[in-house]
Amino acid sequence: MSDKRSTGPVAASVFDTLRVVRSVLAPTIAKGVIKRRPLMEATAEHGDLDAKAVQLMQRLRTKYGDGPLKLSIPFRPQVLLLDAAHVAQVLEGAPSPFSPATKEKRSALAHFEPGNVLISGPERREELRPVHENALATETRRHPFFERFQMIIDEEFDDLLSNFTADKQVKWKDFAEPWFRIVRRVVLGDRARDDAALTGLLDELRRRANWAFAIPTNRKKLRSFQMRIAAYLQNPEPVSLIARLPDDRQLQLESQIAQWLFAFDAAGIATFRALALVGSHHETQEALRQESKLVAADRRFARAIFLDTIRLWPTTPAILRELTEDAHIGETMIRKGTGVIIFAPFFHRDDEHLAFAHRLNPAPWVDQEAAAPKGLVPFSAGPAMCPAHNLVPMLGSLTIGMFLQETEISLLQPAMRPDHLPASFNHFGIALQLSHRSRTAA
Ligand code: HEM
Repeated sequence: MSDKRSTGPVAASVFDTLRVVRSVLAPTIAKGVIKRRPLMEATAEHGDLDAKAVQLMQRLRTKYGDGPLKLSIPFRPQVLLLDAAHVAQVLEGAPSPFSPATKEKRSALAHFEPGNVLISGPERREELRPVHENALATETRRHPFFERFQMIIDEEFDDLLSNFTADKQVKWKDFAEPWFRIVRRVVLGDRARDDAALTGLLDELRRRANWAFAIPTNRKKLRSFQMRIAAYLQNPEPVSLIARLPDDRQLQLESQIAQWLFAFDAAGIATFRALALVGSHHETQEALRQESKLVAADRRFARAIFLDTIRLWPTTPAILRELTEDAHIGETMIRKGTGVIIFAPFFHRDDEHLAFAHRLNPAPWVDQEAAAPKGLVPFSAGPAMCPAHNLVPMLGSLTIGMFLQETEISLLQPAMRPDHLPASFNHFGIALQLSHRSRTAA
């Protein structure tokens, strides 16, 4: 009789649940899950909030053991994973019994991509997932449009990187403008290059999505966003990502493309942070520069640095799942409908298990984009792993190469200790200094 109960999850006390809400969940939500809020990002960095969240979870693991920990949240049963092996198991078990389409995600994403694969049921997912995989060339490190995308990156950053005489400071805004021109050209083609209004419209919808079910969808804005996308789809430019989509309206392509445009924001943030990391690790720059001269090559070192940047500062900190039926996680029976929270920074920065937790450690990423059994999942893992897990590091590595060709990068702000990198890293506060190589070499 005690058997059944003993296989259920250990429950955190009300007090510990409140601590998790205060230190793990609330800061993640406050920073903006869908669209980052600059003030909250700065607060998190200032208060070292991510480090505190990881430390709290380590204490909970010591207190309760490493089984899934049930949080005492009324009306919404949730378990928090504390064991890397469980991360691998849960992510491998998508879409059932561990569905990516959780209530929280459905309510947030409905604001701007109601038909997206991430929030679709298993049958619809079977139709949609291959559409993403084909367009984004999920299985190959070198996207078929490599040359074209490299040319776009070179063109768009040329102005920033060439037109200065003395040393130059680069902040997020300087980086973001060319970056979003690149995104629009890569996704929608050259004629979208200057369609900043489209990005602006999506940003507005994303800001609302931060509030999830607390505010209604702005249907008028959503419709006008979708109509703009539909106009590009009517006559897709060759060698753009949308040219690789099937001509099938029933697939709600506007919702699929919205996810790409949205997620390229994270890719830009990760790329800018990677440049900052390189700027505080000068010893990496010459090898990266040499690598970038290899025409059309797979930039293994730059990719690995890019991936480790996302390991250090995950842009999707909370990977969520929901049980479609009763199922075990490890030895523990979890009930249908329960939410599963994988707080990636806990596993990525777990200094009780990882010697390199707070240092740059590109080695694991030279030939893979996930190490799920160790809980290292910058792009998630399993059947719902990010289908751009090859495309994004490819574009990131091309950008790093472009930046280093003629310049030396130094990180001016924030101060950063390479032997103990901060857990929170506010990209809005980064200041890079670019110096012409001829001058630094002299
Ligand atoms: C730094 C950049 C990015 C990171 C770290 C990232 C990470 C992730 C993660 C962790 C997931 C799984 C979310 C979950 O299971 O709840 C995901 C899903 C997804 N990502 Fe990315 N992503 C990035 C950029 C992109 C880009 C640029 C695209 C498209 C061009 C993209 C397309 C998608 C799609 C379509 C899904 C849903 C996959 C599915 O449910 O089967 N991502 N991404």
